[in-house]
Amino acid sequence: MSDLLRDLWYFAASSEELRTGAMFRREILGEPVLLGRDRTGKAFAMRDICPHRAVPLSAGRIVENEGVQTVECPYHGWRYGAGDGVCKMIPSLVEGQNYEPGRIRVRHYPTHEANGIIFIYVAADPRFEGEPPPPPQFDLRDLTKPKFIVHRIFAANMDNAVVGLMDPAHVPYVHSQWWWRPPSTGKKLKEKRFVPRERGWAIERHAPSSNSLGYRALFGGEVTTEICFMLPGFRWEVVETPKVRLFTLTCLTPENENSTRITQVTYWQNAPLLDVLKPILVPAGLEFLDQDGRMVDLQNEGLKYTQSMLMIDDIDVQAKWYQRLKKEWQKSRDENREFVNPIEPVTLRWMS
Ligand code: FES
Ligand SMILES: [Fe+2]
Repeated sequence: MSDLLRDLWYFAASSEELRTGAMFRREILGEPVLLGRDRTGKAFAMRDICPHRAVPLSAGRIVENEGVQTVECPYHGWRYGAGDGVCKMIPSLVEGQNYEPGRIRVRHYPTHEANGIIFIYVAADPRFEGEPPPPPQFDLRDLTKPKFIVHRIFAANMDNAVVGLMDPAHVPYVHSQWWWRPPSTGKKLKEKRFVPRERGWAIERHAPSSNSLGYRALFGGEVTTEICFMLPGFRWEVVETPKVRLFTLTCLTPENENSTRITQVTYWQNAPLLDVLKPILVPAGLEFLDQDGRMVDLQNEGLKYTQSMLMIDDIDVQAKWYQRLKKEWQKSRDENREFVNPIEPVTLRWMS
């Protein structure tokens, strides 16, 4: 059985990817998912398999059926409600054939669109019909439109992808490009206060690392940053001064057990310098992801022979927390109770 977490919202796509009246297929948690936007502009998601003969519905088209937005299967034209996955019409039926199309349903995923990104709720029960819990809140406030979005697919399971993302000790080795933190900056003692928050934790607001040239050049003196993590795989970092706000949201979504989509959504406000730099920030963002991606590929070379890894203090404490949070999430589901965050506030120290 898969140990991917369910009963949670996952990042599915950017708003820009979903054009009105169009749809496409994307693998999410081991299922083919049709992501689409109906002709009224509403984003929707359903399992991309026609219950009749298993043809991908995303190869069909979006049509209105008696006032309802539906997806029409390309094979025999059955139509499924975009909003509920219920079959609305079987065109071959003739009078006297009392087959009730409404008895057939495609799995349908609750969908939430805000701040230029789209989330779907992946319930443990594929027949889930109720009201999903509230979608994730990242305190984006009025950052309504991403400045840019980059993504990569990592050949890693969700856990290794998440752990790689939160690992503080790899930065001076993997991300040591001259414009970010050249090796000459050396390592410094980092000491950060971590506090539990919702389904994860936050590094309390602090001045950014003094060996990060990039932030200093862009924001000057009075800058603070806050970094948060939340299950199933969201990490966000806010860098701000009283005026400027830079927000980077990283979303991890498993495609399946061996492959994970990593999407980095970047917003900012009142930062004309960043607007000017945008043409180089996009390739820079991709380079960061690729640096991590190459390390994941190397890691796979070792994982062919062993699954064992070491976790040491304090650099791997966050990785341990992630495992504990996952366990608690699963346990709270199994016991049908509220999730209780197992993390205690603590100051972690390391050299990086
Ligand atoms: S396969 Fe979809 S309608 Fe027949
Ligand atoms: Fe990294």
